[in-house]
This record gives sequence, C-alpha cells and structure tokens, in this order.
Amino acid sequence: MTVYARDVKQTSVGVAGQTKFLLEESQLPRRWYNIRPDMPTAPQPVLHPGTGQPVGPDDLAPLFPMELIGQEVSEEAEIAIPEEVLEIYRLWRPTPLFRARRLEEAIGTRSRIFYKYEGVSPPGSHKPNTAVAQAYYNKQEGRTRLSTETGAGQWGSALAFACKLIGLECKVYMVKISYEQKPNRRSMIQAWGAEIVPSPSEDTESGRAILAEHPDSPGSLGIAISEAVEDAAGRDDTAYSLGSVLNHVLLHQTVIGQEALAQMELAGAFPDVVIGCVGGGSNFAGLAFPFLREKIAGREIDVLACEPAACPTLTRGLFAYDFGDTSKLTPLVAMHTLGHDFVPAPIHAGGLRYHGVAPLISQLVRDGLIRAEAYLQNDIFESAVLFAGSEGILPAPEAAHAIHGTLQVAGAADEAGEERTILFNLSGHGHFDMSAYDNYFAGKLEDVALDENEINRALRAIEGLPTPA
Ligand SMILES: Cc1ncc(COP(=O)(O)O)c(C=O)c1O
Repeated sequence: MTVYARDVKQTSVGVAGQTKFLLEESQLPRRWYNIRPDMPTAPQPVLHPGTGQPVGPDDLAPLFPMELIGQEVSEEAEIAIPEEVLEIYRLWRPTPLFRARRLEEAIGTRSRIFYKYEGVSPPGSHKPNTAVAQAYYNKQEGRTRLSTETGAGQWGSALAFACKLIGLECKVYMVKISYEQKPNRRSMIQAWGAEIVPSPSEDTESGRAILAEHPDSPGSLGIAISEAVEDAAGRDDTAYSLGSVLNHVLLHQTVIGQEALAQMELAGAFPDVVIGCVGGGSNFAGLAFPFLREKIAGREIDVLACEPAACPTLTRGLFAYDFGDTSKLTPLVAMHTLGHDFVPAPIHAGGLRYHGVAPLISQLVRDGLIRAEAYLQNDIFESAVLFAGSEGILPAPEAAHAIHGTLQVAGAADEAGEERTILFNLSGHGHFDMSAYDNYFAGKLEDVALDENEINRALRAIEGLPTPA
C-alpha cells in the first residue's frame, strides 16, 4: 500500500492521462552503469602521441585523480556512487520524465513522445551529474583547484557550481564567441566563485600562439581544452576536468537513463526510439547507454544521435586516431573526428561545436548500434519554438537538436502509417540563450552546411597519426 502525506490526495487520472512521471529521492540510482563490458567491440586503446603506445595511469596522473583514471578503463558493469555525491544529486535528482501530450497534439502524430528533463539542475543542464563527481574525487585526492574549458557556458557553470559546493577553486576558459554571446553565463560562473577568461586567452602559451596567428579567432572547444590542460599540467594543486567525451564522464551521466527506464515503466511504456543531441556525447550517452544495454541484450530500439550540420562529426567525420584538443597536448583517441584544427562556424548551439566525439559512442556507431543525423540551425530553432509553444519549456539550442530529431522520427512514422514510442533527452533549458532566439526571430541566423573541401582540408591534420585496428 502506498502511504501519502495527509493532505495530498491521490488523483485517479491513471497512467493513460498522466503528464509527469516522478521518482522519489529514495529511488535515485546508487550506481553508475558502465557500458564497456557489454560492448560487442572493445574500444581502441588511448595512445601516447610520442610513443604510439597505450597510455598508462602514470601518463594521466598529472591531469586526473586516480579514481577517475580507474573509472576510465574499468571493466566493472556498475560503479557505486559515493554517498557525498548522492547527497548533492538530491538537490535536483531524480529529474522528471514528461509525456509530451501537447506536442503530440500540436503535430498531430499518432506516436507517443516522452522526454527526460535535465534542465531542472541548478546550472540548468545535465552537466552537474559529472561535475559533482569529478569535484568530489579531486577533493578526496588532495587537489584544491580545477581548470576546464566551456563552450556554451553550461559546463563551466556546472563545474563552478560543483567546486563551490565541494570546496575547490575553479578556472574556466570560455570559448570566446560564447563569452561574447552569453554574458549572463559568465556572471553565473562568477557567482559560484570561479575565475573566467575568454579563450583563446593571454593566460597560456597555447592561447597566445593562436592569438598571434589569428587575433580574431572566435575560439573553439579544441582551443579552450588546450588552454585548460596546459593550466593543469603546469600546477601541482590543479587537475583538469572535462565535461564530456571521456569514458568516466559518460559513466556519471548514466543516472539519466537509469531513472528514465524506471519512469518509462511507471508510464507503462518502453521506447522504440531513443534520441539525444551530441556534442562530445555525454547527455546522449547518459540517456542512451542504459537503453543500449537492453538493445545489446536483444531488445529492438532505434538509437538516434543528433548533431549540427555545421559540425557533422558522426555523419561526415572519419573514425580515426586524433588529438582531443587543437594544440595536440592530449593523448590520441580513436573517435569520429573532423580533425583537431577544425574550427566550427559560430553557430548558436555552442556546446555542439567540437571536432570529435566520445570514443565509446564512436565505436557503437561503427558497430551499427547507434545512427546519426545532422540538422541546420534554422530548422532547429523552428522546432525549439514549436516545443516551447506546446510544452512550455524553452529549450537550450543544443537540446533542440534532439527535439528536431524527434519530430523527424514522428513525422516519418506518421507517413508510414506507424506508431512509435519516442523518448528524447531535453538536456537543458535555454534561458541563457536568448540572444540566439533574438537572432532567430530577426531572421539573422545563418545556415551553415560544410562543403566537402573544408572537411578534406581539416582532415589533413590527422594524416600520419596511427590508424585504428
Ligand atoms: C544543454 C546542453 N546539451 C548538450 C550539450 C552537449 O554536450 P554533450 O554532448 O557532452 O552532452 C551541451 C554542452 O554544452 C549543453 O549545454
């Protein structure tokens, strides 16, 4: 029997009429799900660029705490979430899962659409799921300061928030174009006590070298990563923290999909299609990996990754060994890449402007378990506005890629006379992206579809690097 607080009345709309599917705090997942042991093909080893040999823990120790290095290569299917991390997660988790009834009505689909909403976290996205964990392990191992990059500002604010709550200093290198487009994100990062500079900056050798050659560089995640890595490598008190791409980051995000599995069960449904946007790949993996576990075990699920046409890493990049950053400071990882010196056009989904993508996702795409599509930004904003007009939430431009993907899938199903159950990740709200919406409404957004010559030029940067097996 369920016991309700005295003045809370149980209503009897039943699951069929229900909009929100909520879990109790006590139902928060206590373990992260590690997909590595379930993958049909093991991911390629990370290589030292000097020797071409797999990197060991000692190579990574200047940048990361040992616990995270261990998680990076762990073959354990599940890893316990520390109690201190769970305690901070409880500020906003479990996050709600919604049935998008009004959106379904607005587009007249026969499909059922659900979304998991990560925008309820204090910084407004999924990013604190890993920021809190990373800050925690760094503190445990004696680091007092973290350095990082941020694109759209979501990751920088998430890490600033986590460092503040856990008690660490934080320095954020923010991609210059976003720094200029999003002054409010900057203030938010400062409000949580972090130091923030536009990247490329004068604070590092990598930044100064890029400014010398391209004084007007809009910056890119690849450049900002170089600066943050250089900062951490040069100081004993500082570790580097990455908001996406790495295995341990994707691992921490799997609380999203585990909650969603339980919430879909509450809704009496299971998705035929699971959808997320992909920058480095963390929110997508967070939702999709627990469902891919079911797919690998034999369930039929279409798993769709959505990316911008201006930065089409999965749809037009090569699966190759490449550096994670522009200045070639990181180890080599096998992933879909557009080349480490590729600088994406300054589109408004700043968090999706990255030349590579998580190696775990790349391998799963290669194995045919995930498919990908790329969309133009005006189409994305049209879908974002349609969503805001029916569900009410104004989405982050990154998350709007997943909305657009959902509308494509629902539209195709309707045309084929089929009915699908679709689940997507609404990874964040867009309250700090209003200048992007301003430009969209003013008709000033440019659609950037990359031409083949630029892709071929950028890919020349990886010639001569090792080839994946
Ligand atoms: C709201 C939101 N969604 C998605 C992303 C893309 O990152 P990832 O692919 O790691 O989830 C970002 C990155 O900043 C973001 O802010």
